[in-house]
Amino acid sequence: MSEAAITKTIAVDGVSHHSTNQLASHSTSRDWLGHSAKLWFAVTVMGQWLFAAYVAIFYGGVTFSGDLAGWNKVMPHGYVAGDTIGNLAVGMHLFLALVVLIGGPLQLIPQIRSYAPKFHRFNGRIYILTAFILSLGGLFMVWTRGVAGGEIGKYSISLNAILIMMFAGMAVYHAIKRDIKTHRRWALRLFIAMGGVWFFRIGLMLWLMVHQAPVGFDPKTFEGPFLSFLGFAQYLIPLAVAQLYFAASDSKNPKYKLAISLGLVVLTLAMAGGIFAASMGMWLPRI
Ligand code: HEM
Repeated sequence: MSEAAITKTIAVDGVSHHSTNQLASHSTSRDWLGHSAKLWFAVTVMGQWLFAAYVAIFYGGVTFSGDLAGWNKVMPHGYVAGDTIGNLAVGMHLFLALVVLIGGPLQLIPQIRSYAPKFHRFNGRIYILTAFILSLGGLFMVWTRGVAGGEIGKYSISLNAILIMMFAGMAVYHAIKRDIKTHRRWALRLFIAMGGVWFFRIGLMLWLMVHQAPVGFDPKTFEGPFLSFLGFAQYLIPLAVAQLYFAASDSKNPKYKLAISLGLVVLTLAMAGGIFAASMGMWLPRI
């Protein structure tokens, strides 16, 4: 074999080894990203269904026993005697909260999408419609009755409602255009924005568990810098993490994929802590 031929063989061989390694680490990092996303999703669903169980058992219980004033054991502005429309809005809000907490995660499960596409479309329509009613009804409640968390809380939850409606519109638009990849991304953003109030609860309870005291807010007025921050962070931080996750899925850089997978696992562990604290401190004692 000539020297040139040998050099060529080594070079080709070297390149092929190199690209095999690259391919292997690319697919390993892709697997890691997939596994960490699944872990995040499983923990989220478990936590949201615990919240749903609390809504169904606690609010369902007091409502069906005819004790509407029982809502006020938790909500400062729940039942207001004589305000029929406002009370109806709250009752509707609780029922629809249950619908989305149970039905939302089902939309993101790939097996359901591929084996039961009709269910996906049916449940999707209900989810989108409910997202609009919950947001518009929530805005009505916030601006007619006020909200725990004071003046800034009104703006942060209102922005959450606006984002929910925008994301719902985008998810539907891309589903109609049959652009499935873009549809899925908007649907995930919608799911996250819809989870804002849930993230608020687990974030607050994690904070309290860590500090063992109400740091950064006044527990009597339920106002203060930490709660103002959390009011926006409840959806902006998870949405920012989703953007990083999308960028990692598109990236060809295995190190970036691995870094985001690791970040997701750490955040999921923190969420599990918050779910534990919220379940023990708020949800389970009331059901
Ligand atoms: C989209 C998902 C949502 C779910 C699952 C949800 C769930 C709930 C639940 C369970 C409560 C009762 C309070 C408790 O026991 O913790 C509640 C109260 C309330 N929600 Fe929502 N909600 C959602 C979205 C919204 C939005 C977008 C707004 C505002 C624009 C909103 C405004 C309110 C208000 C004002 C109350 C009464 C709070 C009070 O009187 O202190 N909710 N929600």
